[in-house]
Amino acid sequence: MSNEQLTIIQTENHKQKPDFEHLEFGKEFTDHMFVMDYTTDLGWHDARIIPYQPLSLDPSAMVFHYGQTVFEGLKAYYTEDGNILLFRPDKNMQRLNQSNDRLCIPEIDEALALDALKELIKIDHEWVPKVKGTSLYIRPFIIATQASLGVHPSESYQFIIIMSPVGSYYKEGIKPIKIAVESRYVRAVAGGTGQAKTAGNYASSLKAQEVADEEGYSQVLWLDGVERKYVEEVGSMNIFFKINGEVITPALNGSILPGITRDSILHLLRHWNVPVVERKISMEEIYQAYKDGLLEEVFGTGTAAVISPVGELYWEDKKLDINDGEIGELSLKLYNTLTGIQLGKEEDIFDWTVEVKK
Ligand code: COI
Repeated sequence: MSNEQLTIIQTENHKQKPDFEHLEFGKEFTDHMFVMDYTTDLGWHDARIIPYQPLSLDPSAMVFHYGQTVFEGLKAYYTEDGNILLFRPDKNMQRLNQSNDRLCIPEIDEALALDALKELIKIDHEWVPKVKGTSLYIRPFIIATQASLGVHPSESYQFIIIMSPVGSYYKEGIKPIKIAVESRYVRAVAGGTGQAKTAGNYASSLKAQEVADEEGYSQVLWLDGVERKYVEEVGSMNIFFKINGEVITPALNGSILPGITRDSILHLLRHWNVPVVERKISMEEIYQAYKDGLLEEVFGTGTAAVISPVGELYWEDKKLDINDGEIGELSLKLYNTLTGIQLGKEEDIFDWTVEVKK
């Protein structure tokens, strides 16, 4: 990106860095942020990197009232030889535009956004943690800023990127988590916004999540919104089941988020010739496999969560103990390979990583 396109104002007050050995998810933010504005007459303009700071918005800004907003999540990793790698960032920018389209938000220039992100990481490179199991979580998002209470697409927007050094998303780390299958509330239906990364999908998930949490479950597993039979996804992850040697994940059906980690896992499994299929799968089928002793492993996938093994599923008063609450062999191999590629330790056979030059 040329200097005319990106203004950089560096902070004079560097924040104190957190203890990288004890990072929580998304609680601390780096010294700088990226901002770009959109107006109908100028289009996207005024791309800038500025010190991390609060926003000033009109209380009637449309994002507050009608939730016209989209976001992404991706990570940067510090490698042993001192490089910084992004994992498939082009896919995140592509998906941001797919979400934009669904939410009537103007398309961003993906290459420009990626260049700006690299520049931002370069400036805040000391915030990329080096401790095992940590990374720099990157949150690009777009908000509707027009001051108006009419229900229509906003005429102005801000595209912002903030970054946060993080540890593991779940307090369990790589240890298996417990998940409750949600039969009362639904997350999305085909034709709705389920496949877009938009705030409302997450706001509407909180109620079920709260109930599950009170009962000791880390997340809920959503079923389809029509028949409440077929598995869709988990609060912050896609989901995979290994049944009798075959790996099954719900097919993208218009209401499931097309996860980039999900796609990467499908690539790895196919590369290893592990039988894998994307199709509808019901809780009845999973329960039957469990009773037959064929439910071998269950794991979630996501940028924040990476690979998260599931040790227990709770469904209609039945507890399904999976692999004695231990991480399965395949889940562990996937975790090691994926994080190995992300950290530059394993051969990047699919050309997924992108180096950020410091
Ligand atoms: C991610 O995995 O990056 C997500 O966006 C999930 C998030 C809601 C924590």
